[in-house]
Amino acid sequence: MCGIFGYIGHQSSLPILVEGLRRLEYRGYDSTGVGLHDGETINVHKTVGKVNNLKQVLPKEANATMGIAHTRWATHGGVTQENTHPHASYDGKVLLVHNGIIENYRPLRAKLISKGIELQSETDSEVLAHMIGLELENGASPQDSVRNMLKRVRGTWGICVMFLDHDLLLCARNGSPLIIGQGDGEMFVSSDPHPLTSHTQRVVYLEDGDMATVTRTSIKVASKQGRSIQTNVQTLEDSWAESELGDAPHYMFKEIYEQPDALRHCITGRVDREMGTGRLGGMRLAHSTLVQAPHVRLLGCGTAAFAAEIGQMLIEKMARIPAVTHIASEYRNNDPIINTKAIYLAVSQSGETADTISAIKEIKLKGGQVFGVVNVVGSTIARLCGQGVYIHSGPEQSVASTKAFTNMVGALTVFSMQLGRSRNMSKEQGRELIQQLQQAPHLMEAYFEDVGPIDEAVDLLANAKSVLYLGRGLSAPVAKEGALKLMELAYIPCLAYPAGEMKHGPMALLEEGSPVVVVAPSDHLKEKTLLAIHECKARGAKIILIHEKGDAIAEEGDVSIAIPKIHPWLTPLLTVLPLQLMAYRTAVRLGKDVDRPRNLAKSVTVE
Ligand code: F6R
Repeated sequence: MCGIFGYIGHQSSLPILVEGLRRLEYRGYDSTGVGLHDGETINVHKTVGKVNNLKQVLPKEANATMGIAHTRWATHGGVTQENTHPHASYDGKVLLVHNGIIENYRPLRAKLISKGIELQSETDSEVLAHMIGLELENGASPQDSVRNMLKRVRGTWGICVMFLDHDLLLCARNGSPLIIGQGDGEMFVSSDPHPLTSHTQRVVYLEDGDMATVTRTSIKVASKQGRSIQTNVQTLEDSWAESELGDAPHYMFKEIYEQPDALRHCITGRVDREMGTGRLGGMRLAHSTLVQAPHVRLLGCGTAAFAAEIGQMLIEKMARIPAVTHIASEYRNNDPIINTKAIYLAVSQSGETADTISAIKEIKLKGGQVFGVVNVVGSTIARLCGQGVYIHSGPEQSVASTKAFTNMVGALTVFSMQLGRSRNMSKEQGRELIQQLQQAPHLMEAYFEDVGPIDEAVDLLANAKSVLYLGRGLSAPVAKEGALKLMELAYIPCLAYPAGEMKHGPMALLEEGSPVVVVAPSDHLKEKTLLAIHECKARGAKIILIHEKGDAIAEEGDVSIAIPKIHPWLTPLLTVLPLQLMAYRTAVRLGKDVDRPRNLAKSVTVE
């Protein structure tokens, strides 16, 4: 969602800000703008649409060494130039970019209007700029004016503020991430680590409630109350640097094909072949917790929730204790009962999903222990949990998640083994699983050498009114993930059901030629899935079948796509690959924006 980038230093700020915006594009946005301070004046340039559109309205050169920039994903007010950030105060002395939502903006707005201030936009963010302006006019310092303003607002924010009469940037965070990159005689502000890596590896993560004064040579962090806080400079992970598109046609294509290496990265050094167990050091799980935990709860949204559902089944299979997945966006609102002895896992690629963060806070408030299963190092969820496992997918830039899904499944498999071995699972069973898990990246590569008749599947999907996805057991969440991918990329309505549920309703959708995607690896449920295939075929449906190589079930598909054979508990790592490719190629065929599907954002930082 919205992205912030700021610069104060000795270089021309304009190209740095534009490059920062470009690197934030993957988060999803619909308009963009920059504000430049040349020591005497502030100039603002904004446009609806992409950063490339903005380039057309920018000056060729600008003599400004300070500036702030923003990509906006509309929440309050339509996608218009007026609503695009940065927003200026009534007197032009304050310029502000904001991520998050100001809940009480209506009364604040009314108050400003009663004071004769004319608001230029419909946004909640603009009120903040005017409120700071009024404080400054009353003689407050930049820091106090921001602080006093923040005392009167409710909601979430990551803000970066520039002042006409002061040579500094002020940043504040509450619920929307902000990171400050420390250079030599220059500083950078960003809402995620990705745009910082080309400038510096030294960063300061702001915590909720923090406010930072950023000059060319210093970063001073203080609390809401003005108490100074030790500035903790951390080093960014190198892998964030490897995120350029290169020769690939789209990020999604690149990321699909990165899955074998990403999975290797995720499992390497985390399994003990001798003992047949997983070893997740970062979880810091006490032996007593492993042995006594009454149950496991997993939380996530979208793709992360589907990976969690697979993790849930693996935990139950390996550790024989109950595990349940919850959709994080629902969790907090249902006043959940927290067992302080249970293990809670928060699954998230970005580590910034607002719904998942709310769920974690609810669990922690009630005394529960939450472990993060997260991709982005140093992200809010990783820091909020303080313990957990990084899935190490590397940067995922396509809005549609692919390699994070398989690595979430990989990490949850290792966790299930660790839990299972501390309880019921035998060493032999653990060893066999490790051997197969270590084979999985090779098997992914083998599949990519011959992906099967994906284009024939696309022929059936591209013009479909709707598509039904079916699977059973571990393949049910894989079916959901496949449906989500096609729906979000190609805008085709898709339904995913456990195959047995098909006759309880969804079957009414089937007509002559309706495509049905069936995930049917050679596990103990295959014969039952076959029944559903026959029921669909009897109603004229065309079956796109994902099956294991050499299995006679292949004959049942109108289009049959073979994946290599693997342990039945690890099939999701392979069955999802053709589903990702089918969604990708359908979207390409339909001319859709594969990496930036409409209305969607990569980091969903508002509830
Ligand atoms: C779908 C997709 C989303 C995310 C969801 C959670 O392709 O990417 O459904 O999975 O928004 O995001 P994270 O994993 O960042 O918490």
